[in-house]
Amino acid sequence: MKIGIVYYSMSGNVDYVAKKIAEIVEADLIRIEPKKEYPNKGLKKFLWGGKSALMGETPELENYEFNADKYDCIIFGTPVWASQFTPPIRTFIEDNRSKLDGKKIATFVCYSGGGAENAIGKLKGELKIDSFKAELILIDPKSRKSEENNKKIDEFCNKLK
Ligand SMILES: Cc1cc2nc3c(=O)[nH]c(=O)nc-3n(C[C@H](O)[C@H](O)[C@H](O)COP(=O)(O)O)c2cc1C
Repeated sequence: MKIGIVYYSMSGNVDYVAKKIAEIVEADLIRIEPKKEYPNKGLKKFLWGGKSALMGETPELENYEFNADKYDCIIFGTPVWASQFTPPIRTFIEDNRSKLDGKKIATFVCYSGGGAENAIGKLKGELKIDSFKAELILIDPKSRKSEENNKKIDEFCNKLK
């Protein structure tokens, strides 16, 4: 089974997990970036990103390579922003919706402690699916590395098979 990991990461936590998963299941990494970067410092960081997520914005993305035919399974990776999944992921789904039909879909989210379940629920709604093949929720895993997190990542990868 060939897997593609589509993810957005502002400060590296989702990137860290995406790379770990890619190593274990030999997946391709498709990192998406908005053309206009979100502020990543100070109060603006939370206000702009949070507002954009809450409003369901779909920022234009930098070019990326995504050949959907190659994949049986797509994993979406996102930080939680204001209890939502992030706007670049929304843009990606809206731009590629028909190409996702019939694929197995899984997700992992990184957060600091609140709103992950809500974000996953919203992502299900956006994808129009009832459940994910596998789900993984981690608290700031880049700065809080642990054996427990590694175990959770392994369990997530096992569920993809
Ligand atoms: C705009 C913004 C909003 C956030 N909102 C939440 C939130 O609602 N709940 C939470 O637990 N963490 C929140 N966070 C923290 C991130 O979800 C968390 O640090 C995550 O691990 C970051 O992933 P990244 O390093 O890949 O960007 C927010 C961060 C930003 C920048």
